[in-house]
Amino acid sequence: MTLQNPSEIISVLCLLLFKIEVVMSTNHETPFETFLNQQDSETWSRVITALLPSIHDVDKTATQIWFKFFPLDLARALQQAEDPAQLARDLLLQGKYQLKDQIDSSHRFLYGHRFWPEVKNVVAGYASSIKPSTDLDLKVLICELAGSVAKKIKVEDSLLTGITAVALMTLQQVGLNAFKLAPGIIYINPKFFKKSPEQILKARARDDWQGLFGFLKGIKKEWTVTFDENDETAKFKLIHTQELATAAMYDKRDHTWRDPRCMKEEGPIPVQCRSAACGTCWVGILGGAEKLSEVSPLEGRRIKEFGYIDTNEPKPLIRLACMAQAFGAVSIVIPPWNGVFGKFLRAWKMNRNGSQKTVTF
Ligand code: FES
Repeated sequence: MTLQNPSEIISVLCLLLFKIEVVMSTNHETPFETFLNQQDSETWSRVITALLPSIHDVDKTATQIWFKFFPLDLARALQQAEDPAQLARDLLLQGKYQLKDQIDSSHRFLYGHRFWPEVKNVVAGYASSIKPSTDLDLKVLICELAGSVAKKIKVEDSLLTGITAVALMTLQQVGLNAFKLAPGIIYINPKFFKKSPEQILKARARDDWQGLFGFLKGIKKEWTVTFDENDETAKFKLIHTQELATAAMYDKRDHTWRDPRCMKEEGPIPVQCRSAACGTCWVGILGGAEKLSEVSPLEGRRIKEFGYIDTNEPKPLIRLACMAQAFGAVSIVIPPWNGVFGKFLRAWKMNRNGSQKTVTF
């Protein structure tokens, strides 16, 4: 190609500079991304536990559930895999398991989601411009960023702490470029937008009125299971002591538009085996965990093998819906994916600082 005049030369130079800038910004971490990438899952776990007193009650459990739904170690293992698609097949991952595909929507069950555009802007701006000091503390940073957004939009800091932690973890998993490119959409029906945290907490805790002689109903009592607090149609009825997934099966509406893993006429909770064998039916318990049966030895063992939660709590915030029986109204969150990765991740973590580059499954 021969350049004819100075304006052509300037255009080509500008294009070249633009391409160099794009390539550099794509391939190089900012100092803040380097700082974030030094934070491992153990650090995050400590930080979230330490932050809990600063998170409003409406988002305390939701924040912990979100961090279980999108585990950092699994995201890193996939990023570092020689063949991520093959690893996903090996781990039987189904559905939307990557945060890059749901940067704006993965956290729509947090109350703080309604402040996402403001939080995202502040976090993106900070991550683009700040060179963190060597002694920067992740917990302090989350509180400071949440505080600065709270001041700007005049809401309590505690309503922004959980969603700010979520924003930073999302940024760590997807990278600054993808984070900035997400449009920053709020996925809440305007009707629900104005609900106060107190109204939501009250509704979450409420059991169905069983009538004046409800105590005589015994096992005939019926409870409401809410599976999306931002959608008034996202509820089904459960007969006292039924498992969540069994009750969901009687909801014959088409839920495939919500989640393609749902089978027609099988209800809103994706299921396969109904016997704690496949891991498809895991759910987060936003409200009413105390109204569920205790984890059985089978559920406890399998949920750890799937990799969803590692706890011996009798009523944890993550359950298998085909195993958990309900004795009252509950509010659940259905994750957009499932898999079997507990054993793999334990081996991957043991090897991550060693010389072995791949982990066999
Ligand atoms: S449906 Fe398979 S574990 Fe619950």
